[in-house]
Amino acid sequence: MKIGILTSGGDCPGINATIRGVCKTAINHYGMEVYGIHNGFRGLLDNDITPLTDKDLTGLLNLGGTILGTSREKTFRKRASSQNKPKLMVKTIQEMQLDCLVCIGGNGTQKTAAELAQLGVNVVTIPKTIDNDVWGTDSSFGFDTAVTIATEAIDRLHSTASSHQRVMVIEVMGHKAGWIALHSGMAGGGDIILIPELEYNIRNIGNTIIERLKKGKTYSIVVVAEGIKTIDGKKAAEYIAQEIEYETGFETRETVLGYIQRGGAPTAFDRNLATRMGGHATEMIATGQFGRMVSLQGDKIGSIPLEEVAGKLKLVNENHDLIIQGKRMGICFG
Ligand code: F6P
Repeated sequence: MKIGILTSGGDCPGINATIRGVCKTAINHYGMEVYGIHNGFRGLLDNDITPLTDKDLTGLLNLGGTILGTSREKTFRKRASSQNKPKLMVKTIQEMQLDCLVCIGGNGTQKTAAELAQLGVNVVTIPKTIDNDVWGTDSSFGFDTAVTIATEAIDRLHSTASSHQRVMVIEVMGHKAGWIALHSGMAGGGDIILIPELEYNIRNIGNTIIERLKKGKTYSIVVVAEGIKTIDGKKAAEYIAQEIEYETGFETRETVLGYIQRGGAPTAFDRNLATRMGGHATEMIATGQFGRMVSLQGDKIGSIPLEEVAGKLKLVNENHDLIIQGKRMGICFG
């Protein structure tokens, strides 16, 4: 069999480990031929495709980013210019005589892959995003690494906040979901954690900081998800820091962690999740299970139909046990 593999959407640690898992299993276990499609779906439009051999797979396990490159190509966007893109992509796949297309990506990728499946292309997808917002999988690789990076950053803010008796606000990524903020906020000892899924009130936040001061806690750590509501299009950390300083008179500073959360080597958890998902994707191809996304279900690797995933977001539930437990310990969620 001949398979094509592409990586699409925001990069994250673990993509190369996934490419390694897919390709080593395909080549060594199933005797398949593997072709790397460069820069996401755009590679199908540009015919930017090269064979991948075992030699190309060395040193990938702990390498950040993606050796194939990525893009946010929106093939099925209803713009006149993109009308014939799907046909072009299908034509490339047919000319390459690919038996299956492996798509590694987040929500946008799952959607595009589902559309290609509708056009008769054999696709298998693997969920990839630091946001952890892909429906139908308990976790996506990239998330654990982003949480680890954010937690290390929050740990560092405690010493400078306590030295200056300041409020430190740190903004983490996550797009419209609060998963990174929730997990890193709880792991990093955040006193206030704001996520898009829960409303917040500046008065409550101010009171929490003042109450802490009355108990002799002269500094506070505030972890905010980039997707929380603000006004005038202000960035989350900038807005919350300004509001806190105005509300409490506390000296406040903000840090936007940004793309550091998407860089560098994946954690051991993400490397093994990537390896397991990559291998499972290849097993699905060998057994003809197309039109499905590989997923982590509890401690098992399985898969679900793509049509169940496309167009959905997995958001934090207000009754998540980290929120329940945080509230019991006096952490403010807004
Ligand atoms: O989806 C991953 C992500 O890092 C989001 O958390 C963030 O909002 C977005 O990508 C940034 O997009 P870009 O890489 O296009 O700037």
